[in-house]
Amino acid sequence: MGRSIAELVAERTGDQFELHDKLMNTQMVRVLRTIGFDRTYVRAEGPYLYDDAGHEYLDLLSGYGVFAVGRNHPAVVSALREVLDANLPGLVQMDVSLLSGLLAERFLETVPDGLEKVFFANSGAETVEAAIKFARYSTGRPGIVYCDHAFHGLTQGALSLNGDEIFREGFGPLLPGTHRIPFDDLEALERALHRHEVAAFIVEPIQGHGVNVPSDSFLPEAARLCRENGALFVADEVQTGMGRTGRMWAIEHWGVEPDMLLAAKALSGGFVPVGAVALRKSVFDRVFSNMVRAPVHGSTFSKNNLAMAAGIATLDVIREENLVQNAAKLGEALLDDFRAMVDRYSFVKEVRGKGMMQAIEFAPPASLRHRAAWKLLDSAQKGLFAQLVTVPLFQRHRILSQTSGHDAAIVKFLPPLVIDEDDRKRITTALDAVVADTENVGGAIWDLGKTLARAALNMRAGR
Ligand SMILES: Cc1ncc(COP(=O)(O)O)c(C=O)c1O
Repeated sequence: MGRSIAELVAERTGDQFELHDKLMNTQMVRVLRTIGFDRTYVRAEGPYLYDDAGHEYLDLLSGYGVFAVGRNHPAVVSALREVLDANLPGLVQMDVSLLSGLLAERFLETVPDGLEKVFFANSGAETVEAAIKFARYSTGRPGIVYCDHAFHGLTQGALSLNGDEIFREGFGPLLPGTHRIPFDDLEALERALHRHEVAAFIVEPIQGHGVNVPSDSFLPEAARLCRENGALFVADEVQTGMGRTGRMWAIEHWGVEPDMLLAAKALSGGFVPVGAVALRKSVFDRVFSNMVRAPVHGSTFSKNNLAMAAGIATLDVIREENLVQNAAKLGEALLDDFRAMVDRYSFVKEVRGKGMMQAIEFAPPASLRHRAAWKLLDSAQKGLFAQLVTVPLFQRHRILSQTSGHDAAIVKFLPPLVIDEDDRKRITTALDAVVADTENVGGAIWDLGKTLARAALNMRAGR
């Protein structure tokens, strides 16, 4: 018999960097080593990661948003164990499974009015691919309108709706019939809807890249314009959904009823790939219009029992632990803490977000000395200043966060919705200390800046 997974993990822990360097994404390993994020994590629980030296890290990245209920939530673990122990007949295919029906029932109870059908998928990108196909088929039109800085995933169709060149470059030709507009620009949307045969407008209610929050009229008016022009309004809630912004779905902040709502990430508690499209019955029925068309769109592993059971357990946890309310309350408290830094520290330009989706944007201040220091970093890599915050937050305070947006200095937090007051204090105290240090040009943080700038220049030179 082969080694058990526990034995393998015990024997080989620490080998992961060498394995990835040799067999997988070498550049990712270089990045982690350069910024000193190459830790060996051995355990995870709730909002915390633990390394092999027993250090605790507060994880404000949440696996890009999948761990809304925290890592290894016991209720989700128990649901998964139950599925495995029950020897259930999964993926029969010429059958319909109970667990997917039960998740559909629970999921639809949470979404805005008007959405009566569910299509399950295996990832956020797969929900986007489904939305493109459903919109095109049901309207008979080719066009899809999307926004600058949008992120809808990296498969070919989703990539065609990506608003950042860095992701698109060299992967074309991308899908025809796509039209990009500035985010939060109703006139541009109206022009696009008039000029082209548009099947759908797809939008993140709050953009993940940069955490851009639209003005209050944008989403309701966009939905109205879509309706008037016969296009579908698709809310991509892959990141903003499941309580992240302090409402179950971010679109609720603006009282909008989309024609399709896309969910993924947090839906399975972070364990199993999953995606779900909630859509109007009229749209669904046009695509799946007769028995011959029953298999016209789908994917082999969608509706698998592990994902479905994890989804049911996760929705229960979110409700029973009042996580949406916690995200609203603690998220707003954190945003207030961060906003207080705008006046206190010269590099802090703006704080944005809702609930547990937060960004702090930095910009060069008035002082010549500070501007010169900023410029030095920015000329090595645009937005590099943000790493002067994320790296010490991690190395000194053991808080994991990310930079966001490729042309601006933005630090982004996606805390698990389960964090508490103590975690809030830990975040605010640490962030305050790090940002205060950036004021001291010539101090240790700016030495780090020089190291990062050199690494960025080397990277640019292909070294
Ligand atoms: C808004 C949004 N849509 C779609 C996706 C793609 O999801 P996945 O990575 O599961 O394909 C993401 C991922 O970050 C996202 O943030």
